[in-house]
Amino acid sequence: QSLEQVSTDIELGDFEHYMLKEIFEQPQTIENAMRGRFDEDEATAKFGGLNLTPQQLRRVDRIVLTACGTSWHAGLVGEYLLEEFARIPVEVEYASELRYRNPPLTDRTMVFAITQSGETADTLAAMRECKRKGLSTLAICNVVGSSIAREADGGIYLHAGPEIGVASTKAFTSQVTALVMLSLFLGRMRHLSYQAGKRIIRSLKAMPETIAKTLECHDQVQEVASRYWNLENFLYLGRLYNFPVALEGALKLKEISYIHAEGYPAAEMKHGPIALIEERTPSVFIVPRGGIYPKVISNMEEVRARKGPIIAIACEDDEKVAELADEVICVPEVEEHLQPLVTSIPLQLLAYHVALLRGCNVDRPRNLAKSVTVE
Ligand code: G6P
Repeated sequence: QSLEQVSTDIELGDFEHYMLKEIFEQPQTIENAMRGRFDEDEATAKFGGLNLTPQQLRRVDRIVLTACGTSWHAGLVGEYLLEEFARIPVEVEYASELRYRNPPLTDRTMVFAITQSGETADTLAAMRECKRKGLSTLAICNVVGSSIAREADGGIYLHAGPEIGVASTKAFTSQVTALVMLSLFLGRMRHLSYQAGKRIIRSLKAMPETIAKTLECHDQVQEVASRYWNLENFLYLGRLYNFPVALEGALKLKEISYIHAEGYPAAEMKHGPIALIEERTPSVFIVPRGGIYPKVISNMEEVRARKGPIIAIACEDDEKVAELADEVICVPEVEEHLQPLVTSIPLQLLAYHVALLRGCNVDRPRNLAKSVTVE
């Protein structure tokens, strides 16, 4: 179906592009991903479609998350979440690699294919390969009735509604939300306490409002974009939960503005990317407050010492960051495991506005397809 045909079905409303509309839908889509999935009495999550008994789920001793593109980045966040809350070893594999590899997998391995469209050829093939080996193969998927949703043994629907912009935005935050809930669920089957479960639920329930507040950074981001749009190289740097966000921020910029951008764990910078730092190579630091915050600050000092411009995504009233950075985009302070949900939003907006200023086709970037159904 062409974009023109789809656009007759899905209204743009007040928005100029689907991408912007979808970015602004996120308070709602995150809410939709959670709806009906809390079990308050047991301080856990519930899913109607996993199709596995508690006994089967309790036996799982390894999880493989497989995906492509943005969905793969959500998988990386999922690895950190699942290992922290459920203490199950997780591997995140590009579907295009997994399908031709022969990793040791046992009957206690659970495989999740993460996909917005449910039609990505590599993800489907990786899933089929795992199914053929007799593994429990599930999907975290947006499009209902898609090939991957149909072929999976079970799974979690995102309920994000149609995503039209080629660069994925709302699907990413919905995937991360589903993965937080899955970690809560599997964690509560293991060592995660009732109190910890309650705390996670409370912070999740606050997310739609927090995301709405995060979107207030829009004007600020637009201003930043107006100062940096004509540069040709960007670095995105973050640590722990914000390392996958750095990768995703860089991917967004590449996809729609055709600017070369790389994401790195901030501390890896000294092993190569630091050589790129100069006055025309800005670094986007994702540096909300949290356990490892002082380490990221020292990474920022290293960039500053080399005259690299710094755009920081930071919590409100962060004076330390304000001193070091050329630009600060403020986001609300949330628990560390939820940071990707808020910190990814200004990066989506930044890519959008930079692409717009460069005259790019935001919704339909060159050479890319919404779902890649060929190998
Ligand atoms: C394409 C899209 C990306 C998407 C990737 C995976 O490359 O342009 O936005 O992240 O496919 O798609 P999926 O539908 O499997 O999440």
